[in-house]
Amino acid sequence: MPVINHVRGDQVPDSMLNVRTPVVKLPLWLVLTWWLLKGLALAVVLACRYWYATGPTVLLACLYVDFGWLGPVGLLVGLAALGAGWRFGHRASFERFGWWPALSRWRRWWYRRRWLSAMTTAKLTVAFDGHAVVPILKRVRSTGAADVLTVRMVTGQIPDDFARVSERLTHTFGARTCRVIPADRPDLVTLTLLRGDPLAAVVAPYPVPSVPDLAALPVARLEDGSTFRLRLAGSHVLIVGATGAGKGSWQWSLIAALAGGVRAGLVRLRVLDPKGGMEMAAGIPLFERFVCESFRQMADELEEGVGELQRRTARLRGRTRQHTPSTDEPAYVFVIDELAALTSYLTDRQLKDRIKAALGILLTQGRAVGVYVVAALQDPRKDVLPFRDLFPTRIGLRLTEAAQVDMVLGDGMRDRGALCDRIPMSMPGTAYVVLDGEPTPTRARASYWTDAHIADLAREYGWLRVVDGDWTEGGAA
Ligand SMILES: Nc1ncnc2c1ncn2[C@@H]1O[C@H](COP(=O)(O)OP(=O)(O)OP(=O)(O)O)[C@@H](O)[C@H]1O
Ligand SMILES: [Mg+2]
Repeated sequence: MPVINHVRGDQVPDSMLNVRTPVVKLPLWLVLTWWLLKGLALAVVLACRYWYATGPTVLLACLYVDFGWLGPVGLLVGLAALGAGWRFGHRASFERFGWWPALSRWRRWWYRRRWLSAMTTAKLTVAFDGHAVVPILKRVRSTGAADVLTVRMVTGQIPDDFARVSERLTHTFGARTCRVIPADRPDLVTLTLLRGDPLAAVVAPYPVPSVPDLAALPVARLEDGSTFRLRLAGSHVLIVGATGAGKGSWQWSLIAALAGGVRAGLVRLRVLDPKGGMEMAAGIPLFERFVCESFRQMADELEEGVGELQRRTARLRGRTRQHTPSTDEPAYVFVIDELAALTSYLTDRQLKDRIKAALGILLTQGRAVGVYVVAALQDPRKDVLPFRDLFPTRIGLRLTEAAQVDMVLGDGMRDRGALCDRIPMSMPGTAYVVLDGEPTPTRARASYWTDAHIADLAREYGWLRVVDGDWTEGGAA
């Protein structure tokens, strides 16, 4: 039995309480005026809300009224000329402040139109209390190659819910890949949808910083078009890739990023090239030591590094926990082209043991005192296994087998998208890296240093020069 009954006509006899809405009679003019005011208010609100459409329309209409067709057409031509001048005069600021904001606004409208259907088909809407609750698209930032969508999740959702359907979202929005990253606020998630591929073209060398920041060395381009800044401070770097995968370009990009430090005396490069010096010899003026022939010398070099490390540890003990490079205490960077040549292929057992012992100490104790190792490796299956885990930063270039990916980047990384075995041979230098704090790996392509670039680099930043066919100190001014 209904307890309360709203009566619009006759009274319902069997309800406990009957409520009748009072009937107020209004004159027609009052109702019409009220509707008119409401309509006007709505028009003002809409005009303000969509100012980017209404403002220009009003302006163009005013110009048309005052000057005829010449007014609006003249304004549009003038603006186009101004935009073209800005674009060719200073492209960076044009893109940053003109083009990308406009593109972002357009893309936001484009995503909004597809949002509800995309969320529903990806099963990201949640039914609650008879309503469908949809994640909210808060912001779209577009940089040409990538659209970064900031989304507020429905209560109870987690970023993994979006990561699980990332492939579906990729196809729904017609993108190439979709990366899901938790945002800085726990209720937000960012979806990075990539359209073009900024890694398809060869990456030109980055400008050499005059004082390198060892925590952020510009070495490669990320797939959203931004610069990958590699952290060397407190780390060691292992670069793994099949032959011809482009390990050289990662090594040179890193050396180039450190070259300013070499000139300033903050960084000393000690280079071991067991493959006979073919790869690294062009940079000799930059290197404090360079060994490419004798494995005995390489072992001596590493052991000397250990000696230096132990003396420095004793000096710094109790004073600091993380070394910062200075001219008195420079950072030592050991660059080893082909690690397996020293740890696996070498036949002299005694020599191999010496090298392994020294390398083990450098890798375990070097990070804190500014002694770093950057090593390249062709085949991650070789028995460099114990060393592999001592490299906190690992870069996976093209590999021959899918099973090698997890060996290089860590367990489960291939499932999370590091498809190193599918990198085409036509894109040398392309690799997967795991960025700080991100659950999914990211693609990056190292800048490409040609022989001419390396010769220029060595001339400008090297501290050796050739006198009578011999290297002498005093290269860079
Ligand atoms: N980042 C890059 N961009 C464009 N081309 C590149 C890049 N890196 C390498 N290449 C090209 O790929 C070729 C092979 O690269 P590289 O010698 O660096 O390979 P690698 O991995 O060191 O091979 P190996 O194991 O035989 O030493 C180079 O000759 C160069 O032309
Ligand atoms: Mg090489």
